[in-house]
Amino acid sequence: MTTVEWRGGKVRFIDQTKLPLQEIYIETAEYRIVVDAIRALKIRGAPAIGVAAAFGVALAAASAVSAETVEVEARRAADLLGSTRPTAVNLFASLHRMRRVLDQHSSRPSAELRHALLDEALRIYKEDVDACVRIGEFGATLLERGSAVLTHCNAGALATAGAGTALSVITTAAREGKITRVYVDETRPLLQGARLTAWELVKAGIPVTLIADSSAGQVLRTGRVAAVITGADRIAANGDTANKIGTYPLAVLARRHGVPFYIAAPISTVDLQIATGEDIPIEERDGREITHWNGVRVAAEGVDVFAPAFDVTPHDLITAIVTDAGIHRPPYAVSLPGVRTTP
Ligand code: MRU
Repeated sequence: MTTVEWRGGKVRFIDQTKLPLQEIYIETAEYRIVVDAIRALKIRGAPAIGVAAAFGVALAAASAVSAETVEVEARRAADLLGSTRPTAVNLFASLHRMRRVLDQHSSRPSAELRHALLDEALRIYKEDVDACVRIGEFGATLLERGSAVLTHCNAGALATAGAGTALSVITTAAREGKITRVYVDETRPLLQGARLTAWELVKAGIPVTLIADSSAGQVLRTGRVAAVITGADRIAANGDTANKIGTYPLAVLARRHGVPFYIAAPISTVDLQIATGEDIPIEERDGREITHWNGVRVAAEGVDVFAPAFDVTPHDLITAIVTDAGIHRPPYAVSLPGVRTTP
């Protein structure tokens, strides 16, 4: 299963809104389809969004109708892609790299510009695949044999170009014989846990127990898990971490019950420009994702809705942050920029 890739001059991705009931791949030469796919969460998960956006810019350049419009089209695509989702910083990090290539090749022949954009997009893809492997190796060292763990949302292969972040830690540890079971929050309201993470774990042959988000307190209170591990959409310089709504309460529960709470993410998710979580932009979603169930209204007409897609977990609740550069411990303002630990 490939989440998003460049194939034969097109972008190919799996439509995550159809999973797990249907495995449908979309192949397109039109960058606006990629823009819409990110907006509609057909492609989702911070690293996957970053990779798809880079491919989107390369696609815009490749499909420009004339040599004169290559740069204009690529820049237009970058602007549109940057307007899709505000929280995951991987999107903006990728677009920054693609715009830098545009700046560097602005006066070069269009064929050269097209090549340079595709090369950079493929580098971003490859870096993400490699980062997932390293995150898995580093993170697995944190887990003991016989561990059950709890995760939230989907930080698996579907959220990246590779093996995932939090799920790469879990699948690597499982291969080492350390994992007995994974508790998966269903992850209201869009059910990334129930639809995507549970599907990935079942396919990987790892014992999985799906729970309603509201069951996490009971799971932690009764000592069922040795660790909680999730992904991230943006990590501020002090370690405050934005991730799928419902992550912060898990961190509070983990602290209450003395269970380690780990974040796993590529270095590209760390935003050193942002000092604390206060400055992380939080996407708000359409209220119908909460007032409706499968397209059918379930809440009273006239009710107000607050629908943030992400929350921020304060750094002091995070036991360690695992990146492809190593295991970062508090104080994160010191450990995030540099430390490298060998697994
Ligand atoms: O709204 P989504 O599904 O894009 O949110 C995804 C998450 O919050 C993931 O946990 C995060 O991006 C980490 S993915 C490796």
